[in-house]
Amino acid sequence: MKETKTAIVTGGYGEIGKAIAKGLGESGYKVVLIGRDKNKLQKASEEIIQTTRNEDINYFAVDLSRKKEIEGLAKAWNEQLDVLVNNAATTPNKREETPEGIEKQFATNVLGYFWMIKYLHPFMENRDDARIVNVASYWAGGLDLNDIESQNTIYDNDDVYRKCKQANRMLSAAFAESLLEKNIAVTACHPGDVRSKLSNSLGHGGWELPGQGAETPLWCATAPELKGVTGKYFENRSEVKCRFADDKKATEKLYAICDKY
Ligand SMILES: NC(=O)c1ccc[n+]([C@@H]2O[C@H](COP(=O)([O-])OP(=O)(O)OC[C@H]3O[C@@H](n4cnc5c(N)ncnc54)[C@H](OP(=O)(O)O)[C@@H]3O)[C@@H](O)[C@H]2O)c1
Repeated sequence: MKETKTAIVTGGYGEIGKAIAKGLGESGYKVVLIGRDKNKLQKASEEIIQTTRNEDINYFAVDLSRKKEIEGLAKAWNEQLDVLVNNAATTPNKREETPEGIEKQFATNVLGYFWMIKYLHPFMENRDDARIVNVASYWAGGLDLNDIESQNTIYDNDDVYRKCKQANRMLSAAFAESLLEKNIAVTACHPGDVRSKLSNSLGHGGWELPGQGAETPLWCATAPELKGVTGKYFENRSEVKCRFADDKKATEKLYAICDKY
């Protein structure tokens, strides 16, 4: 009998995250949704069970902007992991900080991805086809490695968001390299342009359905032709050259900065 694969999707009750989780559920994965609101997690998992007829949909409440909560998830995790989709993101209109004093977008959108990989990847070692998919964006740029929490600029949620999405793409390349010998593939992608809480707060809106927005992340997570493919960035199911990921010195520096938090 074929072994059931397990997948984590962060931001699992958001527009794109829920569609990714549904797609994985339809493909027979055991899925664990991660989010910070227990009621929304429960509602989303019930909806996914109902639409996919897959009973193996679970959830875990974690505030991804907080390292100790991700460490708590890793401590409680007691099974293998085949797919990790880092997808959760936030874009507060005004500058906010976590209780630890870290700028909220950097903490959630960058360190949240970083810590999830750092603390969960040991469960992905020695699997046949382990994949980490970082949901990034083509809307990316402006990152200043000497001002990682944007303290020297006036806060603008869209500017800070673009920096975070650049960081997602850079860290994907850095992790792809460091996890190569553990046989864990790491890719980054742009999903679709979907109307969501996040896109509305940036004034972007969106014209694609959540299911369409989930197509490329799902493809990165499951397509047989991508087995073993690592360190690449994708848009519309096609590889796109990533200038951010190509700057090895910068990706290593960003990795080192994040690792100090
Ligand atoms: N929508 C687009 O057009 C578009 C385009 C390019 C890239 N993306 C990327 O796609 C991903 C998903 O975005 P979306 O459009 O689906 O947005 P969304 O519907 O607003 O979903 C974002 C999810 O992240 C969760 N989240 C935020 N902060 C969190 C925290 N501290 N801990 C745990 N969960 C947290 C949110 O939960 P709460 O509701 O509790 O905050 C929500 O479930 C993001 O990485 C985004 O950058 C989206």
